[in-house]
Amino acid sequence: MEQISDNQKMSLWHLSLRNCVVWEPVTLSMICKTLCLGLFLSLATHPSLAQEDAETAHIAVKNPADLSHQEANKIYDALKATLDERYSVSNMELIAGYQDWKRYNSAPYLSATHGQRFVNNYANDLGHDYGKLKNGQVYPPGTVFAKDTITVTSEGKTFPGAMFVMKKLAPGTNPDTADWRYVMVIPDGTVFGDTTGDEPELVDYCHACHISRANRDYVFYIPKDYRLAQ
Ligand code: HEC
Repeated sequence: MEQISDNQKMSLWHLSLRNCVVWEPVTLSMICKTLCLGLFLSLATHPSLAQEDAETAHIAVKNPADLSHQEANKIYDALKATLDERYSVSNMELIAGYQDWKRYNSAPYLSATHGQRFVNNYANDLGHDYGKLKNGQVYPPGTVFAKDTITVTSEGKTFPGAMFVMKKLAPGTNPDTADWRYVMVIPDGTVFGDTTGDEPELVDYCHACHISRANRDYVFYIPKDYRLAQ
């Protein structure tokens, strides 16, 4: 359908109203009524005003960049079971039940470094020092960080996004990535890349960026405004 701006809609609307009021003759008034009705119908069915279908209506976002913490959590609550279901198709034991772990962020936040998606950060029990690690300290083998995500399109539609995982392996297992395993699972449950899997090069870029936090065992942390109150 042809897109018209809100300004254009308003001026069309005013134009038709003026026509209705000013033109006296019956024929013109009938034409005007028809025009008004036509305009009304076309506005009522315009995609931006039409009611969305039940599945997406509650999670549509007006302005993704200005999402409040409360709105972001609401969207996440509506989608989190679906996310878990999708990722579990991958049969990846390391993220099974990740939503029962501690979530370290207060609300999903936009992460430019993970594809401009809204993200959460969970850590299993072994990762309890997340954000508290001192320079030079390392996480114990078996630590897992799981970052589930939501994609918001420019029209404000929300969809399950990819899952980003880091797992600390036994010392010496994978020197190229400082014994971290990086995995990305896309939302249909396909493992897109795994540094210990068939196509490790697909996720080489993970460590290439995380390496800038070598002094904190290659792990970043949550942006300030989204950290839980300690
Ligand atoms: C360009 C840099 C960059 C790239 C590439 C990147 N990350 Fe990250 N990652 C970050 C930053 C910054 C954070 C913390 C802030 C945030 O969540 O955006 C983070 C956080 C994480 C976390 C939570 C633990 C932590 O470090 O705070 C996981 C898990 C993670 N990334 C996995 C991955 C995986 C898997 C890939 C590749 C598929 C990847 N990342 C690619 C920069 C990057």
